[in-house]
Amino acid sequence: MLELENIEYYYPSQKDKMILDGVSYCFEEGRMYAVLGASGCGKTTLLSLMAGLDVPVAGRILIDGKELRKNALNLHRKNDVSLIFQNYNLIDYLKPVENVKLGGKADAARLLAQMGIDAAQRQRNVLQLSGGQQQRVAIARALAGRAPVLLADEPTGNLDEDTANEIIAIFRKLAHEQGKCVIVVTHSRELAQQADVILQLRKGKLSEEACESAGTEDETGERKRGKTTGQEPDGK
Ligand SMILES: Nc1ncnc2c1ncn2[C@@H]1O[C@H](COP(=O)(O)OP(=O)(O)O)[C@@H](O)[C@H]1O
Ligand SMILES: [Mg+2]
Repeated sequence: MLELENIEYYYPSQKDKMILDGVSYCFEEGRMYAVLGASGCGKTTLLSLMAGLDVPVAGRILIDGKELRKNALNLHRKNDVSLIFQNYNLIDYLKPVENVKLGGKADAARLLAQMGIDAAQRQRNVLQLSGGQQQRVAIARALAGRAPVLLADEPTGNLDEDTANEIIAIFRKLAHEQGKCVIVVTHSRELAQQADVILQLRKGKLSEEACESAGTEDETGERKRGKTTGQEPDGK
Protein backbone atom coordinates (compact mmCIF):
# COMPACT_ATOMS: atom_id res chain seq x y z
CA MET A 1 0.00 0.00 0.00
CA LEU A 2 2.47 2.63 1.22
CA GLU A 3 6.12 1.76 0.92
CA LEU A 4 9.18 3.61 2.11
CA GLU A 5 12.41 2.75 0.37
CA ASN A 6 15.66 3.94 1.95
CA ILE A 7 14.27 7.31 2.95
CA GLU A 8 16.83 9.86 4.06
CA TYR A 9 15.97 13.26 5.39
CA TYR A 10 17.61 16.29 6.96
CA TYR A 11 16.25 19.80 7.24
CA PRO A 12 17.87 22.26 4.79
CA SER A 13 18.90 24.47 7.71
CA GLN A 14 20.69 21.59 9.46
CA LYS A 15 22.34 19.50 6.81
CA ASP A 16 24.70 17.76 9.20
CA LYS A 17 21.85 16.34 11.25
CA MET A 18 20.30 13.29 9.62
CA ILE A 19 16.75 12.92 10.91
CA LEU A 20 15.92 9.84 8.84
CA ASP A 21 18.86 7.70 7.86
CA GLY A 22 17.65 4.96 5.55
CA VAL A 23 14.08 4.21 6.55
CA SER A 24 12.46 1.32 4.72
CA TYR A 25 9.10 -0.19 5.49
CA CYS A 26 5.99 -1.47 3.76
CA PHE A 27 2.67 -0.46 5.31
CA GLU A 28 -0.32 -2.60 4.38
CA GLU A 29 -4.04 -2.00 4.39
CA GLY A 30 -6.23 -3.47 7.10
CA ARG A 31 -3.62 -2.90 9.76
CA MET A 32 -3.04 -0.39 12.48
CA TYR A 33 0.58 0.61 13.04
CA ALA A 34 2.00 2.53 15.96
CA VAL A 35 5.23 4.46 15.52
CA LEU A 36 6.94 4.89 18.87
CA GLY A 37 9.90 7.11 19.52
CA ALA A 38 11.35 9.71 21.85
CA SER A 39 10.42 13.34 21.41
CA GLY A 40 12.47 14.92 18.64
CA CYS A 41 13.45 11.64 16.98
CA GLY A 42 11.68 12.52 13.73
CA LYS A 43 8.18 11.03 13.99
CA THR A 44 6.41 14.13 12.70
CA THR A 45 9.03 14.51 9.99
CA LEU A 46 8.38 10.95 8.85
CA LEU A 47 4.62 11.54 8.78
CA SER A 48 4.99 14.74 6.75
CA LEU A 49 6.98 12.86 4.13
CA MET A 50 4.34 10.13 3.97
CA ALA A 51 1.69 12.83 3.74
CA GLY A 52 3.46 14.47 0.82
CA LEU A 53 4.01 17.73 2.68
CA ASP A 54 7.72 17.47 2.02
CA VAL A 55 9.99 15.27 -0.08
CA PRO A 56 12.82 13.02 1.09
CA VAL A 57 16.43 13.96 0.43
CA ALA A 58 17.00 10.44 -0.87
CA GLY A 59 14.92 7.31 -1.28
CA ARG A 60 11.47 6.69 -2.67
CA ILE A 61 7.90 6.54 -1.46
CA LEU A 62 5.63 4.17 -3.36
CA ILE A 63 1.84 4.03 -3.34
CA ASP A 64 0.55 0.69 -4.58
CA GLY A 65 3.91 0.12 -6.21
CA LYS A 66 3.96 3.47 -7.99
CA GLU A 67 6.63 5.96 -7.08
CA LEU A 68 5.36 9.19 -5.61
CA ARG A 69 6.56 12.04 -7.83
CA LYS A 70 7.14 15.60 -6.81
CA ASN A 71 4.60 16.87 -9.33
CA ALA A 72 1.92 14.50 -8.03
CA LEU A 73 2.05 15.52 -4.37
CA ASN A 74 -1.23 17.43 -4.60
CA LEU A 75 -3.05 14.37 -5.89
CA HIS A 76 -1.37 12.24 -3.23
CA ARG A 77 -2.61 14.57 -0.50
CA LYS A 78 -6.09 14.53 -1.96
CA ASN A 79 -6.53 10.85 -2.82
CA ASP A 80 -4.15 8.67 -0.85
CA VAL A 81 -3.65 10.06 2.64
CA SER A 82 -5.54 11.90 5.39
CA LEU A 83 -3.89 13.57 8.34
CA ILE A 84 -5.14 13.73 11.92
CA PHE A 85 -3.41 15.99 14.42
CA GLN A 86 -2.94 16.23 18.15
CA ASN A 87 -4.84 19.51 18.34
CA TYR A 88 -7.63 18.34 15.94
CA ASN A 89 -7.14 21.36 13.59
CA LEU A 90 -10.86 21.93 13.21
CA ILE A 91 -12.21 25.22 11.89
CA ASP A 92 -13.60 26.62 15.12
CA TYR A 93 -16.31 28.87 13.66
CA LEU A 94 -17.83 25.97 11.72
CA LYS A 95 -20.15 23.23 12.95
CA PRO A 96 -19.01 19.60 12.90
CA VAL A 97 -20.91 18.85 9.69
CA GLU A 98 -19.30 21.79 7.93
CA ASN A 99 -15.86 20.71 9.11
CA VAL A 100 -16.39 17.20 7.80
CA LYS A 101 -17.57 18.56 4.45
CA LEU A 102 -14.19 20.23 4.07
CA GLY A 103 -12.68 16.76 3.97
CA GLY A 104 -14.68 15.52 1.01
CA LYS A 105 -18.08 14.93 -0.51
CA ALA A 106 -19.13 12.00 1.67
CA ASP A 107 -22.29 12.12 3.82
CA ALA A 108 -21.00 14.19 6.72
CA ALA A 109 -23.90 13.50 9.11
CA ARG A 110 -23.57 9.76 8.58
CA LEU A 111 -19.81 9.83 9.17
CA LEU A 112 -20.29 11.84 12.36
CA ALA A 113 -22.96 9.45 13.58
CA GLN A 114 -20.56 6.59 12.91
CA MET A 115 -18.00 8.37 15.07
CA GLY A 116 -20.54 8.65 17.88
CA ILE A 117 -21.36 12.35 17.44
CA ASP A 118 -25.11 12.64 17.91
CA ALA A 119 -27.54 15.02 16.21
CA ALA A 120 -27.41 17.65 18.98
CA GLN A 121 -23.62 17.60 19.07
CA ARG A 122 -23.51 17.92 15.29
CA GLN A 123 -25.31 21.26 15.60
CA ARG A 124 -22.94 22.73 18.17
CA ASN A 125 -19.96 24.89 17.52
CA VAL A 126 -16.94 22.58 17.59
CA LEU A 127 -15.43 24.45 20.54
CA GLN A 128 -18.43 23.37 22.61
CA LEU A 129 -17.41 19.76 22.16
CA SER A 130 -15.01 17.89 24.41
CA GLY A 131 -11.50 17.07 23.20
CA GLY A 132 -12.47 13.50 22.46
CA GLN A 133 -15.53 14.64 20.51
CA GLN A 134 -13.43 17.13 18.54
CA GLN A 135 -11.01 14.37 17.63
CA ARG A 136 -13.94 12.22 16.46
CA VAL A 137 -15.02 15.10 14.21
CA ALA A 138 -11.45 15.33 12.87
CA ILE A 139 -11.46 11.59 12.15
CA ALA A 140 -14.81 11.92 10.36
CA ARG A 141 -13.30 14.73 8.29
CA ALA A 142 -10.34 12.50 7.43
CA LEU A 143 -12.71 9.71 6.37
CA ALA A 144 -14.73 12.06 4.17
CA GLY A 145 -11.84 12.17 1.73
CA ARG A 146 -12.00 8.36 1.38
CA ALA A 147 -8.21 8.06 1.39
CA PRO A 148 -6.99 4.53 2.16
CA VAL A 149 -4.19 5.72 4.46
CA LEU A 150 -4.83 7.57 7.73
CA LEU A 151 -1.84 9.28 9.31
CA ALA A 152 -2.29 10.45 12.89
CA ASP A 153 0.30 12.53 14.74
CA GLU A 154 -0.07 12.05 18.51
CA PRO A 155 -3.88 12.00 18.08
CA THR A 156 -4.48 11.33 21.76
CA GLY A 157 -1.82 13.67 23.14
CA ASN A 158 -4.40 16.08 24.55
CA LEU A 159 -6.84 13.48 25.84
CA ASP A 160 -7.29 11.69 29.14
CA GLU A 161 -6.56 7.97 29.28
CA ASP A 162 -10.11 6.66 28.82
CA THR A 163 -10.84 8.99 25.92
CA ALA A 164 -7.49 8.15 24.37
CA ASN A 165 -8.40 4.48 24.50
CA GLU A 166 -11.74 5.18 22.82
CA ILE A 167 -10.00 7.03 20.00
CA ILE A 168 -7.47 4.23 19.55
CA ALA A 169 -10.36 1.74 19.44
CA ILE A 170 -11.86 3.76 16.58
CA PHE A 171 -8.57 3.58 14.66
CA ARG A 172 -8.40 -0.18 15.20
CA LYS A 173 -11.91 -0.56 13.86
CA LEU A 174 -11.17 1.55 10.81
CA ALA A 175 -8.22 -0.71 10.03
CA HIS A 176 -9.95 -4.01 10.73
CA GLU A 177 -13.46 -3.29 9.46
CA GLN A 178 -12.89 -0.74 6.71
CA GLY A 179 -9.49 -1.95 5.57
CA LYS A 180 -7.75 1.37 6.17
CA CYS A 181 -4.02 1.53 6.63
CA VAL A 182 -3.75 3.41 9.92
CA ILE A 183 -0.42 4.82 11.07
CA VAL A 184 -0.47 6.41 14.51
CA VAL A 185 2.49 8.25 15.95
CA THR A 186 2.63 8.17 19.72
CA HIS A 187 5.04 8.17 22.58
CA SER A 188 2.68 6.10 24.71
CA ARG A 189 3.73 2.50 24.86
CA GLU A 190 0.39 1.57 26.36
CA LEU A 191 -1.49 2.92 23.36
CA ALA A 192 1.04 1.49 20.93
CA GLN A 193 0.40 -1.92 22.40
CA GLN A 194 -3.08 -1.86 20.90
CA ALA A 195 -1.75 -1.61 17.36
CA ASP A 196 -1.23 -4.64 15.15
CA VAL A 197 2.37 -3.64 14.57
CA ILE A 198 4.66 -1.54 16.75
CA LEU A 199 7.47 0.31 15.02
CA GLN A 200 10.33 2.06 16.76
CA LEU A 201 11.94 5.14 15.29
CA ARG A 202 15.39 5.47 16.79
CA LYS A 203 18.59 7.07 15.50
CA GLY A 204 17.04 7.66 12.11
CA LYS A 205 16.03 4.04 11.62
CA LEU A 206 12.60 2.43 11.75
CA SER A 207 12.31 -1.11 12.98
CA GLU A 208 9.51 -3.48 13.81
CA GLU A 209 9.32 -4.49 17.41
CA ALA A 210 9.22 -8.12 18.33
CA CYS A 211 5.71 -9.37 18.99
CA GLU A 212 4.63 -9.37 22.62
CA SER A 213 2.23 -12.03 23.72
CA ALA A 214 0.54 -9.75 26.24
CA GLY A 215 -1.81 -7.06 24.98
CA THR A 216 -5.22 -6.72 23.49
CA GLU A 217 -6.94 -9.03 21.09
CA ASP A 218 -8.88 -7.79 18.14
CA GLU A 219 -12.59 -8.19 17.60
CA THR A 220 -12.32 -11.76 16.34
CA GLY A 221 -10.23 -12.76 19.32
CA GLU A 222 -7.32 -13.29 17.00
CA ARG A 223 -4.07 -11.46 17.43
CA LYS A 224 -2.68 -9.94 14.27
CA ARG A 225 0.92 -8.91 14.04
CA GLY A 226 3.44 -7.93 11.46
CA LYS A 227 3.46 -8.93 7.85
CA THR A 228 3.28 -12.65 8.29
CA THR A 229 -0.38 -12.99 9.31
CA GLY A 230 -3.38 -13.12 6.99
CA GLN A 231 -4.10 -10.35 4.50
CA GLU A 232 -7.82 -10.19 5.15
CA PRO A 233 -9.23 -7.40 7.28
CA ASP A 234 -11.31 -8.72 10.14
CA GLY A 235 -14.90 -9.73 9.54
CA LYS A 236 -17.70 -7.30 10.27
N1 LIG B 1 11.58 22.97 10.25
C1 LIG B 1 12.62 22.44 10.92
N2 LIG B 1 13.88 22.89 10.70
C2 LIG B 1 14.94 22.35 11.33
N3 LIG B 1 14.84 21.34 12.23
C3 LIG B 1 13.63 20.85 12.48
C4 LIG B 1 12.44 21.37 11.85
N4 LIG B 1 11.37 20.69 12.31
C5 LIG B 1 11.85 19.78 13.19
N5 LIG B 1 13.20 19.87 13.30
C6 LIG B 1 14.07 19.04 14.13
O1 LIG B 1 14.03 17.73 13.61
C7 LIG B 1 14.02 16.76 14.66
C8 LIG B 1 12.81 15.86 14.53
O2 LIG B 1 11.64 16.61 14.75
P1 LIG B 1 10.18 15.96 14.73
O3 LIG B 1 10.02 15.20 13.49
O4 LIG B 1 9.21 17.05 15.00
O5 LIG B 1 10.28 14.97 15.99
P2 LIG B 1 9.13 14.23 16.82
O6 LIG B 1 7.85 14.41 16.09
O7 LIG B 1 9.58 12.80 16.92
O8 LIG B 1 9.10 14.85 18.18
C9 LIG B 1 14.05 17.57 15.98
O9 LIG B 1 15.36 17.61 16.42
C10 LIG B 1 13.56 18.92 15.55
O10 LIG B 1 14.10 19.91 16.37
MG1 LIG C 1 6.05 15.24 16.64
